Amino acid sequence: MTSDDRPEILLIRQTRPDVAERLGQRFRLHRLDAAPDRDAALAEIGPRIRGLAVGAMTPIDGALFDRLPNLEIVSSFGVGYDTIDVGEAARRGICVTHTPDVLSDEVADLALGLLLATVRRIPQADRYLRAGQWRQASFPLTTSLRERRAGILGLGRIGRAIATRLEAFGVHVAYHGRRPQDDVPYAYHDSLIGLAAASDILIVAAPGGPDTRGIVDAAVLAALGPEGIVINIARGSLIDEAALTAALKAGTILGAGLDVFANEPHVPEDLAALDNTVLLPHVGSGSHYTRAAMGRLLTDNLFAWFDGQAPLTPVPETPARGGR
Ligand code: 8YV
Repeated sequence: MTSDDRPEILLIRQTRPDVAERLGQRFRLHRLDAAPDRDAALAEIGPRIRGLAVGAMTPIDGALFDRLPNLEIVSSFGVGYDTIDVGEAARRGICVTHTPDVLSDEVADLALGLLLATVRRIPQADRYLRAGQWRQASFPLTTSLRERRAGILGLGRIGRAIATRLEAFGVHVAYHGRRPQDDVPYAYHDSLIGLAAASDILIVAAPGGPDTRGIVDAAVLAALGPEGIVINIARGSLIDEAALTAALKAGTILGAGLDVFANEPHVPEDLAALDNTVLLPHVGSGSHYTRAAMGRLLTDNLFAWFDGQAPLTPVPETPARGGR
């Protein structure tokens, strides 16, 4: 019998078969979701695990790290890593990688689709036709994207890709973020409420996490005004969902297009009952093309690490030394 000394990797949850297949060709792969007893599996294989492959929305914390004392790297399937305790990872010298860039255009496309759907009421018009109502009367006129001012919260990779698209649609763009960026032509607002007051579309594209929790609150929505449209393709946690629902009901703002929610996959019933919302089940990056690219980057990060090279796309908070 030959011993298998390949690095041992733990896949927390199966995201794509091609990821598991590629990892299995190179590593000894364990699947936590396939284990009948998760606790027993962690007790048995935990000390041998050197790499983790995880989905973007999977909570990864110190309690899990305690079970994996020889963990070197966490490779996450997604750009947002707000559910990974990167402070704890850094403290333990664990590198965390994510999948930026490869999904920016896809998510930005979806953001524009969601914006148009919300402003021109595309899903409502589709439902109207299917219900046979067109035979009785024309679909009511809608609001417009013409002469609108968009404010982007978070001008990172995805925010910039959204801005480029908005420019092509002739929509004025301004932004708010941690700091002004000197290589963009858009006006910077040093407060979110200032951006909201100067805009009638607010597009949320900033990272989730404790720093941004609930920052789109009742005051920001009031500043956006009665013609205001909120689009969120980032994380549900940035928006005070109760305040948003109240504003939509009261007409403090006009509508919202949301791809993300505070407690996915649960969506508040009163939000879903409103006619001035377009709601999507977190599909921003969800095309075959882009998810395949994300899967390749997730595996490439692990391959690089265990080849002794620097990972391709580490997060800035954790050590990204050149591998072992
Ligand atoms: C997820 C996402 O990766 O990239 C992110 O941050 O939220 C998505 O692209 C996707 O939902 C798969 O978990």
